[in-house]
Amino acid sequence: MKAVKTLGQFIIEKQADFPYAKGELSRLLRDIGIAAKIVNREVNKAGLADILGDAGTMNIQGEGQKKLDVYANEQFISALKCGGECCMVASEENDDCINIESDISKDAKYVVAIDPLDGSSNIDVNVGIGTIFSIYRRISTEGKADLKDVLQRGTEQVAAGYVIYGSSTMLVYTTGKGVNGFTLDPSIGEFCLSHPDLRIPDDGVIYSINEGYYSHFPDGVKKYIKYCQVEDTKTQRPYTSRYIGSMVADLHRNMIKGGIFIYPLTAAAPNGKLRLVYECNPMAFIIEQAGGKASNGYNRILELEVTELHQRTAIFIGSKNMVNKAEEMMACFSPQLIKKNFEGEVCLQ
Ligand code: AHG
Ligand code: MN
Ligand code: MN
Repeated sequence: MKAVKTLGQFIIEKQADFPYAKGELSRLLRDIGIAAKIVNREVNKAGLADILGDAGTMNIQGEGQKKLDVYANEQFISALKCGGECCMVASEENDDCINIESDISKDAKYVVAIDPLDGSSNIDVNVGIGTIFSIYRRISTEGKADLKDVLQRGTEQVAAGYVIYGSSTMLVYTTGKGVNGFTLDPSIGEFCLSHPDLRIPDDGVIYSINEGYYSHFPDGVKKYIKYCQVEDTKTQRPYTSRYIGSMVADLHRNMIKGGIFIYPLTAAAPNGKLRLVYECNPMAFIIEQAGGKASNGYNRILELEVTELHQRTAIFIGSKNMVNKAEEMMACFSPQLIKKNFEGEVCLQ
């Protein structure tokens, strides 16, 4: 019989990779795992409990909050408060960072950025949703943690992960030494190692983008979509299109099967829709650790300067060769190269 390894056991085992670690990060990951189980419980019975629908409030980004957005946010913040390893939380659902000022958290080293419930538009219709988290080491040295502790470049992340509440519930995370996935076994209430050392294929045949906005896309994105749709047996085109509308679910599928997920700048979202701090940076860290690539079309997501908590960005993320190809097409329309194109340079085959 195959031995089961729980998330808790795995975290403790991995702590040995960091000989001077005192277990704080391990405990922080454990706290996030506990909150994920509580959120999972509510998601599973969402149609029965009074937890579907709108909360009647708006977040700072002008998005209507769902009851589950608010519930998940409360659960993660409360788990981080009780755990004592986190001094500040930044969440999609809160205008500003939240300082944790309890006695047990006063020397805490870590800050956490979180999208408590990703894919809100899918909550009420029983489609996969998720949670995304990112962990940084506090860099301020005096007084309370402050905004600069969370406005660090993505390259400074200590750990990142996501939870997918799907046909089964999984927690996938990295501490910068590869990516591991754990499936929740409801019969014992534990996340168990099911996907050790996850790797995203270098190539794929799935492209994920909201094509409804096609006419609002930049020309480079339109070219890439056309490239995906052209017949070419050598490269297995036309590719297949899959778009759930929950970044976690779309990326999880592409991680397993190979593929690209794109949320570009659009006419309606000129800075992009997805948020750098608690959506794009953690996902970029995970995908890179799995051997993939994440870019804003021109530059590596993890190296982008972070100036605002709710900053948005375009994102092209997934299988390395697919992201490279999309970047190539974006470059054809970059301000520097447009001149060259007019002079007759052929960018696309
Ligand atoms: P959130 O529910 O956390 O606000 O994120 C929703 C995001 C993301 O999960 C998804 O990929 C994207 O919004 C979908 O946007 P469109 O409906 O514009 O395609
Ligand atoms: Mn989200
Ligand atoms: Mn969200």
